[in-house]
Amino acid sequence: MFSLRLPIPIENTLITPPPKSNNNNTYNSSLCAHSYSSYSHSQTNRFLTVRNVALQKNGNSVGDSKDTMMQPFPEELNAEPLPRHVAVIMDGNGRWAKMRNLMPSAGHQAGAEALKEMVRLCASWGIKVLTVFAFSTDNWVRPKVEVDFLMSLFEKTINSEIDVFIREGIRISVIGDASKLPSSLIRMIKYAEERTKENSRLQLIVAVSYSGKYDVVQACRSVAKKVKDGILDLEEINEGIIEQELETNCTEFPNPDLLIRTSGELRVSNFLLWQLAYTELYFDGALWPDFGKEEFVEALSSFQQRKRRFGGR
Ligand code: FPP
Repeated sequence: MFSLRLPIPIENTLITPPPKSNNNNTYNSSLCAHSYSSYSHSQTNRFLTVRNVALQKNGNSVGDSKDTMMQPFPEELNAEPLPRHVAVIMDGNGRWAKMRNLMPSAGHQAGAEALKEMVRLCASWGIKVLTVFAFSTDNWVRPKVEVDFLMSLFEKTINSEIDVFIREGIRISVIGDASKLPSSLIRMIKYAEERTKENSRLQLIVAVSYSGKYDVVQACRSVAKKVKDGILDLEEINEGIIEQELETNCTEFPNPDLLIRTSGELRVSNFLLWQLAYTELYFDGALWPDFGKEEFVEALSSFQQRKRRFGGR
């Protein structure tokens, strides 16, 4: 199916970072970016390297120049209702790796491949927003080697996919607390966001160094500052005002219709706490790297059987 494969990359090959932007120091902590660096597009147009058996499972980019991105709409599903916004807690990478006597990094690498497939399916089937929990504010306590690997993986994956995103009409946005992220990753994010900001087929929101509590706190700070600066009256604060300050203000559809969590855990683990208020929850036993088309169709099918009432009758 994916006939044209990108060269298999080699792990730990350095990415030439984009040049430092002049305004790097003024970049605010939110990654749902509004200011950008300006390194040239050709700088990303090179093959990156990641050595891993996991990559060879699919070994392809999200879009493939021969096959394009389109995947036929599954017969098992109805055209309506489809979730406009799907959120995913991509859990189980570590266990996937452990079962194969591999390091956690191999699980994350395989997880990145599963994500590419998910992006392909969402774009093909008309889902408008896909938000994925890639790294929680609580994940910083993991071993440094794993954290470093993940940061590098995010950067490499964004870099390797950006041409496809541009070609296939996919907008990428990153939310979370950027203050601890490597500067090269921040520059890559800014660049990718800028290059894809006009795209509207699918918006991929990647939550990195994100948590729901963090998001509510930073929104409260923004609202409080507006009150302090006389831009807003205390009495004007309502749900809409708070929502405008949440990091999901980068999308037209901030509240997920469907949340999928893999690996059998039945928790929301500090993900989009405010935004999940009326989200349909779906838990799957598959480990994230094994979550593919079949499993996604099951999740969508379950969604189509739900009756959403939003508090009404
Ligand atoms: C949770 O599994 C997963 C993560 C902490 C990382 C998820 C990251 C990816 C899937 C890569 C995504 C790539 C991009 C570019 C966004 P776990 O390690 O907690 O699994 P475990 O519970 O089995 O140990």
